[in-house]
Amino acid sequence: MRIKENFYPFIYMIFFILMTTVIINCGKDDKTSQNTSEKKDDTTKKTSTTQTTGSDSPGKEIFYKKSSENNIACSDCHSDGTNTSNSLTKYFSNIQGANKRTSTYLGKFKGEEVALNAGGATICWKEYMRMKTPMTEDQIKTLNEYYTSVATPDSPLEITYETIALPVKDKAKLKEVQKVIMELKGDPSKGEQSFNNACGFCHAESSTVKKVPSVLEDFEGNVKSIIFNVRLGDAAMPFFKKDVLSDQEIADISSYLLQKSGQ
Ligand code: HEC
Ligand code: HEC
Repeated sequence: MRIKENFYPFIYMIFFILMTTVIINCGKDDKTSQNTSEKKDDTTKKTSTTQTTGSDSPGKEIFYKKSSENNIACSDCHSDGTNTSNSLTKYFSNIQGANKRTSTYLGKFKGEEVALNAGGATICWKEYMRMKTPMTEDQIKTLNEYYTSVATPDSPLEITYETIALPVKDKAKLKEVQKVIMELKGDPSKGEQSFNNACGFCHAESSTVKKVPSVLEDFEGNVKSIIFNVRLGDAAMPFFKKDVLSDQEIADISSYLLQKSGQ
């Protein structure tokens, strides 16, 4: 009898411990399965967004994808209406409805050619992103679809601007432009500001764009070569239109760069 009386609490304790272990483990299992189903939900959501609203469309993916060659994306230079905080987007055309424009790249592409070249993106792809293989028909098609998906009722049918880089680099006009800018007095502190806005994305020390020469250290160029690069562009460096970067701003930037390099 005594033994039995002492034995009962012991059995209760074992039972209690077993139950607790079972309950805790069940809880754990529950959590794990919840996580898995949440993850599954996420994937389903993503896939269905792709199919329905196009907010994560293949075209958008191309637009935001960094080049494997120099780590720059379309969205670093162009706006789709949502990324205007990227510093360079104020210097280059937006792409909203670009496939429906009557002409792009200042007349280089007209009529049917516009959509066939994703509004001219085929040039950017090769020149500015240094891609080794041309854009595929499929990529062109998905980019066009993306332009349409972000178009607004007042998207322009043509974007015009002042440049000496199109239709071909005008070296004779460049001489005149150099003369005009060299007669302006540059302000280096204003130049620093303009440099950070228009050039820093690629040329700042903190830049994530690859294959860009430093113009802040050991720069051996001069005002003429700066004007050449900025107004005509040079390989992966895009040209800057007069409408968005004035002659005075180039004079300011030049005086800043020359001051920095002790010239
Ligand atoms: C380094 C900057 C840069 C990158 C990167 C870039 N572009 Fe461009 N893009 C330009 C410049 C410069 C022009 C010609 C001047 C302008 O339109 O502002 C241009 C022109 C265009 C135009 C013609 C706009 C018009 O109406 O004339 C379209 C469309 C375009 N780019 C799309 C793209 C797409 C899509 C990508 C990515 C595959 C891309 N660009 C990558 C700089 C860039
Ligand atoms: C999208 C990136 C990008 C932007 C923005 C940019 N550059 Fe460049 N820059 C380059 C690249 C790439 C080169 C090298 C070009 C080459 O390979 O010939 C270059 C070259 C230069 C050079 C020649 C340097 C040398 O030592 O030969 C100068 C000067 C220059 N850039 C000035 C500027 C100025 C000023 C601005 C702003 C108004 C600017 N860049 C904006 C990419 C950029």
